[in-house]
Amino acid sequence: METVLSGIRSTGNLHIGNYLGALRNFVRMQHDYRCFFFIADLHSLTTHPHPDDFHGNVRRILAQYLAAGIDPEASTLYVQSDVPEITELYLLLNMIAYTGELERTTTFKDKIRLQPGNINAGLLTYPVLMAADILIHRSHKVPVGKDQEQHLELTRVFARRFNNLYQCEVFPEPVAFNFGEELIKVPGLDGSGKMGKSEGNGIYLVEDPKSIRKKVMSAVTDSGPVPGQPMSEPISNLFTILSLVAAPETVRFFEEQYAAGTIRYGDLKKQLSEDIIGFLTPIRERYLSIESDSDYLRKVAALGKDKARESARATLDLVRSAVGFKSF
Ligand code: TRP
Repeated sequence: METVLSGIRSTGNLHIGNYLGALRNFVRMQHDYRCFFFIADLHSLTTHPHPDDFHGNVRRILAQYLAAGIDPEASTLYVQSDVPEITELYLLLNMIAYTGELERTTTFKDKIRLQPGNINAGLLTYPVLMAADILIHRSHKVPVGKDQEQHLELTRVFARRFNNLYQCEVFPEPVAFNFGEELIKVPGLDGSGKMGKSEGNGIYLVEDPKSIRKKVMSAVTDSGPVPGQPMSEPISNLFTILSLVAAPETVRFFEEQYAAGTIRYGDLKKQLSEDIIGFLTPIRERYLSIESDSDYLRKVAALGKDKARESARATLDLVRSAVGFKSF
């Protein structure tokens, strides 16, 4: 059975873009693959989150994964820092990662621009930690968006380099994968780009209805349809989101109104917010009950940790033996 692995940083919240993009496919397919899901709390340290927030962030994302439908028995759902084998592999991979190739990654160059006051070595080696996350379970497939493809390419480089250097076949070369489905790009509410890129352009998976209405009602639009002109990006984005959450008849109704030039964007937005709320309500209700159940969360985390460490240990034994570690 092939191994699929997905991770998310513990800063922020899951938004509907995450869910409709890859997470929903993962939930549907989690019984057909050997699936690993984890919360990348170590990665989040690059931006120095406050210690008072650190654990709460992880807890929130864990509860959101569960509310979205990840089954902790079928999949392995765990917290990155609970698996010290990952950090050991990270150290070993650092020995074969060249600073030049790390300096050339787009995400690192972006960080230099965005946070010039905090260019720590953890940022430089972020792709090495990500490679360790992936390779520790000898994963074959990783559902990632465009922005992470360069990291996945580096993961393949490290896997190949390790196998060559130590004349072994410990690591498969992992590829991007979305369960055979086309990757849905969910646009944001700010007129252009994808949801989640900038704060405030997206709707969280567990957002309350009042706040959803407010965000949707203030989404960017245009000054109205112009006959003969193609639909503008902000409006086409609203239609895209509508088509993901609403009944086909609803979408058709507004498309016809648009074509006839009689559409009122206020009505479109009202309908869109109610359909988003309807779509998210069951997830949000599950989240609220899971989030307040500390016993359940503790059990889930403990189970995930055990399963993840068992798999990680097996890989690390192969790695250590390939590198030449021997016990006395
Ligand atoms: N870098 C990913 C992101 O920012 C999160 C992540 C960390 C990840 N480790 C991973 C994703 C391993 C997939 C596999 O979204």
